[in-house]
Parts: sequence; C-alpha cells; structure tokens
Amino acid sequence: MAAGTSPFEIAHDVTSLRVRLAEWRREGETIGLVPTMGALHAGHMSLVDEAKKHARRIVLSIFVNPTQFAPSEDFSAYPRTLDADVEKFAAAGGDLVFAPVQAHIYPPGFATTLSMRGPATAGLEDRCRPTHFAGVATIIAKLFNLCRPDAAIFGEKDYQQLKVVQRMARDLDFETRVIGVPTMRERDGLALSSRNVYLSAKERAAAPALYAALARCAREIKEGVAIETALETARKEVTAAGFAIDYIEARHADTLAPIASREAGPVRLLAAAALGKTRLIDNIGL
Ligand code: PAF
Repeated sequence: MAAGTSPFEIAHDVTSLRVRLAEWRREGETIGLVPTMGALHAGHMSLVDEAKKHARRIVLSIFVNPTQFAPSEDFSAYPRTLDADVEKFAAAGGDLVFAPVQAHIYPPGFATTLSMRGPATAGLEDRCRPTHFAGVATIIAKLFNLCRPDAAIFGEKDYQQLKVVQRMARDLDFETRVIGVPTMRERDGLALSSRNVYLSAKERAAAPALYAALARCAREIKEGVAIETALETARKEVTAAGFAIDYIEARHADTLAPIASREAGPVRLLAAAALGKTRLIDNIGL
C-alpha cells in the first residue's frame, strides 16, 4: 500500500482503500474525508484540522478529476505535488492518502454522470463551466461510496460546490455530514487557492481587489445600500483593478437563488473574475 519513498500510508487503488477502512470500521472508528485535487496549501490543512474535530481517522483524497474540467481548462497544467502533499498531510496527523490512478476511478466503459438542478444550475459557475458540477457531483458520490465517511469537509471558497455537494448528499441519502470551512486568506485578503501560483507578480499585486470589493459591498449592504447599487460599485472596482468579470452577484446563501433584499433571507455575495489567464473565485457572507 505504501508508495515511493514515503513511509506514510497511501492507497493507490480501491481495494487497498477498502481494506484499511473496513479495518477501522471494525474497530469502531469514525472516518473523516477531505476530498482534494492536491497541491495542498494552508486552506486544505484547515480542512484537515476541521475533519479531526468530527472523526477519529482522516482520509485525504488526491485526485485531479478530469470530468470536472472543460477541454479548454487547465487539467494537464493543474499542479501535481503528491510527495509534498503527503508530507504535509502526515505532519498534520492525517491517517491515509487515497491517490487513485484515473483508470481505477473511471475504468473503460464508465458511463455514469450525475445530473443536478438546484444549486448546480444557479447561473454562477455553471454558466461559465456548464459541465463542471456534473463532474464534481459524480466524483464526490464515488468518493462517498468508496469511503462511506461520517463527515466530509469542503472549503467555503468553492461556495457553489459546497451547496451542490450538500444537496447531492441529501438527495441521494448519503449519511455523510457535509461540513463547510471558512476561506483562508493571505494577509492582503486574497483567498488561498492552488491556482494562485499561475498569477504573475503584477497580477498577484492586483488580485486582492476582488475580495476588497466584495467586503466593501457586504459592508454597504449591511449599512442599508440597495443590493444592486452596491454590486454595481463592486463591479466597477473590480474592473478598474484589471479583472475581466464573469459574475459578481448576490444570492440566497442556502439555495443560491437570486435575492433582491436582505429581508428575503441570508445573503451570500459570489464573484468570479479573471486576471489575465487566471480565473479567481471568491465569496462572502453577510
Ligand atoms: O474542490 C476541489 O478540489 C474539487 O472540486 C473536489 C471537491 C476535490 C472534487 O474533485
């Protein structure tokens, strides 16, 4: 089961994973799952820390899932840093890395994809990446079936993804608790992301403007400015900082349906915008 030079336990195939999990379950231990695509940063480590509050044994999955990338996206270029990831997870007190090869997850003849409405068709990420959530929901359903975790931990940075996975888990009767963890940020406010490595020095200097605009927008709405007016100001600020905006919107925090006023429910502001070739997403609750 161990791979490479690492003494740490890594399951590269489904059978090894199942053997270890069955052993833990026989011993009455609870299992926490942190699904990732690797390239771990402090944000991922905060998910591991959260997982430890909910389960005795922690499994980290590392799988750059091809089905959630469009052909035009960065699947091949996505950073792959398995050895460093394993080291970080081991140092954080994790128990098992599940790093399957693609053929174990999508064997020849694989023909199933989850199709979702609700938060998956809210008109945010799905508008720009129409096949993305089918890929995410399918891989997460597979990971939930393989690991049967008591709890699974996701970052709030991918807020729509979190809502999609929570909906999918409820709709398909998974017993796993899906837990969201607040976004970790650099000191200047930029949300931690594996894709931040793509930013040039100039883009990195401009990048915090996205969160700054969202934070100011949230403050204004709380102070009584109309949601659409505050959003318009945010869009102007983000454009002025050099971003090409995909969306900056206010949504109901649970359903992701459009929301026109604070009285209509909890509000979440969500944004996606590109600096050069790098697309950043972020969000903030009110
Ligand atoms: O957020 C991610 O890293 C991925 O979308 C996830 C949840 C691991 C599914 O591939």
